[in-house]
Amino acid sequence: MVVSDNALASKVGTAILKNGGNAIDAAVATAFALAVTHPQAGNIGGGGFLVYMNSDGNATTIDFREKAPLLATSDMFLDEDGELIRGSNHYGAKSIGVPGTVAGLYLAHQKYGLLPWKVLVQPSIYLAENGVELSWTLAGHAKSFNASAQPQFLRDYYDNEEGEPTQFGEVWVQKELANTLKLIRDNGKDGFYKGAVASEIAAFMKANGGIITMEDLSKYEAIEREAISGTYKGYEIFSMPPPSSGGVAIIEMLNMVEQANLDTIPFNSTNYVHLLAEVMRRAFADRAEHLGDPDFNLNMPLKRLTSKEFAKMRYNNIDFKHASVSDSSKFGQIYEGENTTHLSVIDKDGNAVSMTYTLEQSYGSGLGSSKLGFIFNNEMGDFNPQPGYTNSGWLIGTDPNIIEPEKRMLSSMSPTIVTKNGKPYLIIGSPGGRTIINTVFQTILNVIEYDMPIERAIEVMKIHHQWLPDELIFEYDLMSPDTQKALEQMGHNLQGRQNLGRLMGILCTSESNVYIGASDSSSPDGAAIGY
Ligand code: DON
Repeated sequence: MVVSDNALASKVGTAILKNGGNAIDAAVATAFALAVTHPQAGNIGGGGFLVYMNSDGNATTIDFREKAPLLATSDMFLDEDGELIRGSNHYGAKSIGVPGTVAGLYLAHQKYGLLPWKVLVQPSIYLAENGVELSWTLAGHAKSFNASAQPQFLRDYYDNEEGEPTQFGEVWVQKELANTLKLIRDNGKDGFYKGAVASEIAAFMKANGGIITMEDLSKYEAIEREAISGTYKGYEIFSMPPPSSGGVAIIEMLNMVEQANLDTIPFNSTNYVHLLAEVMRRAFADRAEHLGDPDFNLNMPLKRLTSKEFAKMRYNNIDFKHASVSDSSKFGQIYEGENTTHLSVIDKDGNAVSMTYTLEQSYGSGLGSSKLGFIFNNEMGDFNPQPGYTNSGWLIGTDPNIIEPEKRMLSSMSPTIVTKNGKPYLIIGSPGGRTIINTVFQTILNVIEYDMPIERAIEVMKIHHQWLPDELIFEYDLMSPDTQKALEQMGHNLQGRQNLGRLMGILCTSESNVYIGASDSSSPDGAAIGY
């Protein structure tokens, strides 16, 4: 079974499974297909994380997060007075991190794949070369890009041969992307990081004020890292360690709620929302203080942050009648991106992949070379841009995530696998910037604690609190006005949002050996496909 943000990509993955591929093969092929069919987040110009668990319950992870280029500096987004040039870390060629996706998919395949690499890249070439029918969503993007101030590459991205935006239902062909993918098919990782593609990337950067060089590209390596793990009432949680903050925060939060007796706290009650908000507030404070790229932060207290004792201490400090105060002198909010994509895969033997990758914002930097046909990320915006300066608005300046050459920026992506009796049980993840951590956390609770079927666990009301700004965000048509009022009386600052999370999950029922997949209804083109 494959669950992804695009039905064609899920089909590609399922076809690979049917043809003898394992979960890694299917994830790689699905990811390449998403780079063609879901270009707002599916990518070869971005980065991400993959958690792999084989059917025996052994977990590992692949970190293919983007890196700061060698020429990056901690003050590269500041003016002469040391103030952040607003937006500069998210726009333009300097916002682009050294892409990691191709290296990550290649490493995953080399270590754990079964089918030949070429077989996994080929379907994406087919889709790019022969075109795909443009969905309603993408046709909407095509129209709006064409009519608005965007980088030229994005304005033209969906154009047909007449230079007009491709319409809904028309076939959209990507010849240049197909050519780039062919080089990757034939040369593996080197097809991207060396040779014609790399020199065109470097030339593009030079011509557009970027700082990524051939050296940055040839030095990029994806890294296999030990999964971060924890337990919740007999289940085991395996997730992404730093440079993602996701796994640490999810385990810390689960450890905290384990202290509470959730049997006496009904789902969606005032007490439930209050407890979760307070747990989130604490985990996000710890995230900001401690987490960053492990290769640059050698003494992160990961064991302590994920220990039961630490959670007990944090939990005991919750006031069950009143909202706590977020200390705004210490932490703040980083700018949030809008698009990322998650895929969950399981094969017939029970090997599982949970993978999230991104360009950061929807369509990343919106920049790309017309010769190469793919979009570059704007992931440099995930670093703390102004060292030492944190305010109650949106800036955060804590040390672990300051820009340094070759450092990976802190992420919230949380591809996660939960096991029961040592076997994959729940494969889950989501886009949504920092809300990812909380929506994955709540979906796990919904399944384990509130016994919801996966499709329901994904859909029901979610909340988000990230320490600062001190806001309790909720899905406004899913929380009763009475609950909202009660929470306000406890001192919470409520902010309604249309939607939180776009979860893609698989539940493995151990009794009947049936896989149940669900793609969030907020994903217009997503699909769970099994056979
Ligand atoms: O790595 C991160 O946490 C962000 N760049 C992810 C961005 C994101 O999820 C936007 N998606 N909706």
